[in-house]
Amino acid sequence: MTDKNLAGKVAVVTGASRGIGASVAVELARQGAHVVLIARTIGGLEAVDDKIKSFGGTATLMPLDLFKLDDLDALGPTLYQHFPKVDIFIGNAGMLGTLAPITHVKPDEFKKVMDLNVMSNYRLLRTLDPLLKASTAGRVVFVTSGVTQDLKAYWGEYAISKVALEALAKIYAAECANTNVKVNILDPGRVRTAMRAQAYPGEDPAIRPHPDDIVSHFMPLVDDDCAMNGECVFVPSTK
Ligand SMILES: NC(=O)c1ccc[n+]([C@@H]2O[C@H](COP(=O)([O-])OP(=O)(O)OC[C@H]3O[C@@H](n4cnc5c(N)ncnc54)[C@H](OP(=O)(O)O)[C@@H]3O)[C@@H](O)[C@H]2O)c1
Repeated sequence: MTDKNLAGKVAVVTGASRGIGASVAVELARQGAHVVLIARTIGGLEAVDDKIKSFGGTATLMPLDLFKLDDLDALGPTLYQHFPKVDIFIGNAGMLGTLAPITHVKPDEFKKVMDLNVMSNYRLLRTLDPLLKASTAGRVVFVTSGVTQDLKAYWGEYAISKVALEALAKIYAAECANTNVKVNILDPGRVRTAMRAQAYPGEDPAIRPHPDDIVSHFMPLVDDDCAMNGECVFVPSTK
């Protein structure tokens, strides 16, 4: 893949204030895309924007709380005022919730995890669908987790949400089969982020790859030449 092969593309990235989403957003901008950065923490979005500007890339900061599901319906129409299409949507924002026996998880907390990890992505797809289909090569990547392959004790709310997210992605992929849109899923493996530290507080973060080290795995899925649809890519973990 050559540099700047995403020139002219518009990419929307959720969870772009830190961690994996921030690194993916920077790489998309480095490849020439204009990146719409979504998260709640304005300072984090500004830091990512500074990085993008440092190499001459461009971004739009869109501070949004994805828990506010009804507000998300306005995203597509708002973007349409500035861009005639969206070429790339990275549904990356997510939360872990509480690691606990499923019967101990509080209903409000379970709902929050489902709202962010599943419902916000459904609402974003609804509002972005016309813009993705206006692209000559709409590309959607949802970020899942290895927990869907290993439904183990105490990871209930997170695992259930990611299984549902994968179902959402595969169903939308099937419905896009006769369009220019390709929809795939990426499991990033174990990555050195705030979420990883929350799940494994005793682990030395240095043994895990930095998010910058895994972003290359996203790039074939956003490429015009991507032929995959409804599939899952697994980033190999170091351990
Ligand atoms: N790290 C890993 O080892 C690992 C492994 C498997 C899967 N994943 C998946 O990778 C994705 C990214 O995780 P990460 O490890 O990079 O986590 P992270 O560092 O905790 O980042 C999470 C991102 O989601 C955003 N976010 C959270 N709540 C939000 C809300 N209500 N509205 C808008 N944005 C919100 C955060 O931004 P604000 O707080 O600024 O809003 C932040 O940018 C997640 O889907 C996660 O499940 C990670």
